[in-house]
Amino acid sequence: MRVLVTGGLGFVGVHTVEQLLRTRHVTEVTVLDSIRYTAAPQALPASQRIRFVQGTVLNAELVTTLVAGCEAVIHLAAETFVDASIADDGLFVDTNINGTAVLLRALRALGGRRLLHVSTDEVFGEATGRPFTESTPYRPRNPYAATKAAADHLVRAYTITHGLDAVICHCSNLFGRWQYPEKLIPVTVTRLLRGERARIYGTGQQSRTWLHVTDAAAGLIAGLERGVGGESYLISGDRELTTLDVVSRIAAQLGIPAAEAVSFVADRPGHDYRYAVDGDKTRCELGWVPAIDFETGLEETVIWTANHEGWWLR
Ligand SMILES: NC(=O)c1ccc[n+]([C@@H]2O[C@H](COP(=O)([O-])OP(=O)(O)OC[C@H]3O[C@@H](n4cnc5c(N)ncnc54)[C@H](O)[C@@H]3O)[C@@H](O)[C@H]2O)c1
Repeated sequence: MRVLVTGGLGFVGVHTVEQLLRTRHVTEVTVLDSIRYTAAPQALPASQRIRFVQGTVLNAELVTTLVAGCEAVIHLAAETFVDASIADDGLFVDTNINGTAVLLRALRALGGRRLLHVSTDEVFGEATGRPFTESTPYRPRNPYAATKAAADHLVRAYTITHGLDAVICHCSNLFGRWQYPEKLIPVTVTRLLRGERARIYGTGQQSRTWLHVTDAAAGLIAGLERGVGGESYLISGDRELTTLDVVSRIAAQLGIPAAEAVSFVADRPGHDYRYAVDGDKTRCELGWVPAIDFETGLEETVIWTANHEGWWLR
């Protein structure tokens, strides 16, 4: 099987490509990536089975050519930083919505290919009661989440209207190597390593469900291989932690007293208080379970970040 991975130089992308290459029936992986600031080209494994194409998912001609040369697509390309979407959502609308539409049109025109569309738990908005399940109504509350939700709706509409074979996977908050230091864990580690305080929005009591990126990549591949067309799956760990808790653990690992590690700043507009995910359907139907517990993954990520200054001191 030949697989096209859009956004394959991004944080989730490089781990997904690495795992695809370990899958014997994957004969070739084509990575399409425009190399935005979050991309990590140096993390792409060296392999004769990888073909890298620099370009944008908004280029319909290029996307059609690449889709024609594969049997399956994993769609990761996106603008991903919530704060940036609050400052200016233009690129988010372009890449996340229009980019997905370009890909869907190519898949529809060519037919016979499976799409694994990668989404987020943020499309469900704020969890006020029970954890999200696949049937939780969409209630995105920030522009990033809204563009991801729009893309999901387009994908679902194509499965119903045009019979597209597509599976949607919603990942919870991910962490691990090669995550750009603007997201909570790498930005906290790098600020503390620089001798700065971590900046915490509001009271730091917002809570998220965390999952190691290599587990997420395995979940996405399970979705591609075993997911039922037209269905969606939540890919999540079961550790729900507050921002303050995560930051305190990082500070403790670096030997910094919590009181000296943080400064509290005004809360982000539209900040969701809680994301919580019930991943039962994925575990039962895809047979996927996370392998890395939060503490082990966090410890490894902090050590890796400290040893890879070249990635974040730039
Ligand atoms: N990281 C998380 O915690 C998380 C959680 C849930 C869902 N997701 C989803 O997973 C996907 C990947 O996220 P990530 O964390 O790897 O993001 P990332 O920002 O690290 O990577 C995105 C990649 O997409 C590329 N890209 C951006 N615009 C493009 C365009 N127009 N054409 C081609 N490539 C383009 C970038 O260069 C980058 O390599 C996204 O769809 C995101 O919504 C991520």
